[in-house]
Amino acid sequence: MSDQRAFLERLPKAELHMHIEGSLEPEMLFALARRNGVKLAYDSVEALRAAYNFSRLQDFLDIYYQGMSVLRTEQDFYDLTTAYLQNAVADGVVHSEIFFDPQVHLGNGVGFDSVIGGIHRATVDAQERHGISTLIIMCFLRDLEEADAERTLDLALDHKEKIVGVGLDSAELGHPPSKFKRVFARARDAGFRLTAHAGEEGPPEYIWEALDVLGVERIDHGVRALEDPALVARLAAEQIALTVCPLSNLRLCVVDHMAKHPLRRLLESGLLATVNSDDPSYFGGYVNDNFIAVQDALGLNEGDLFKLSENSLVASFLPEVEKQAHIQRLRDIGQQ
Ligand code: HPA
Ligand code: ZN
Repeated sequence: MSDQRAFLERLPKAELHMHIEGSLEPEMLFALARRNGVKLAYDSVEALRAAYNFSRLQDFLDIYYQGMSVLRTEQDFYDLTTAYLQNAVADGVVHSEIFFDPQVHLGNGVGFDSVIGGIHRATVDAQERHGISTLIIMCFLRDLEEADAERTLDLALDHKEKIVGVGLDSAELGHPPSKFKRVFARARDAGFRLTAHAGEEGPPEYIWEALDVLGVERIDHGVRALEDPALVARLAAEQIALTVCPLSNLRLCVVDHMAKHPLRRLLESGLLATVNSDDPSYFGGYVNDNFIAVQDALGLNEGDLFKLSENSLVASFLPEVEKQAHIQRLRDIGQQ
């Protein structure tokens, strides 16, 4: 194993932007298709992998939603989540915050209880086995109507103790955060933490809206913030975290070369940037693969990697006491 990877594995970190359905590896996808009698449009793992060639977010979403059709039972969601958490543990992730997309599963005729039940049971078992903590965040699909999100929130209220917050994902352009003003207000009143994808493909105005209209605490992606100096100043002053996903940005052509990735500029602007995998099975790697990609392309040093790990713990939705305990462990490692 490389020194670089061994160093990263020793850094306690949180992963804050990962769609559990995006961790469905082609091998598991085919196994679940067989187990559930679901017919696929691809003949083999290789043919499916060959289709992972995207020019924009929508190209990915089309394949990602197709892939989800194999997830049918509580056990499927348990197996999927267990596999992701094993990878996370190997990468030194001590705390993960997992997104899921219930509206897609409901559309496939899979009940909300099966989805949240399987994901949650896997997180409980992983904490027992490996000590990793997990919080679950439910995303609304922004290309559906707000009324659909409202009905999904109603379902989630019965599982409030298993879901820490709500987010907003799917096709960004043409679907500004303000479309979801009422459902986010209701979610906040119900005690959910709030986050939203913004400024991935969409303009800086969508980040302003996520902050000022939805009242989110974090921005998922947010890389286009750099186009707006007043926005950068706001994000820096309030230390609003950006959950950045470098390999995703490369694979979805948000950046055309990793050497041009804005992560270093975000850090130099004083922003609370973090590194995450987004959809690791589709974008070529888990969280440490993302760290390695930016370290190599942008020449980040060990101090930068410590800072990114610390940022991830600071930006998590963990209770303050647990957050501080992780940060102290990270600092102790830095002193060794
Ligand atoms: N952007 C928007 N929606 C998504 C993504 C993403 O990167 N991953 C899964 N759903
Ligand atoms: Zn995402």
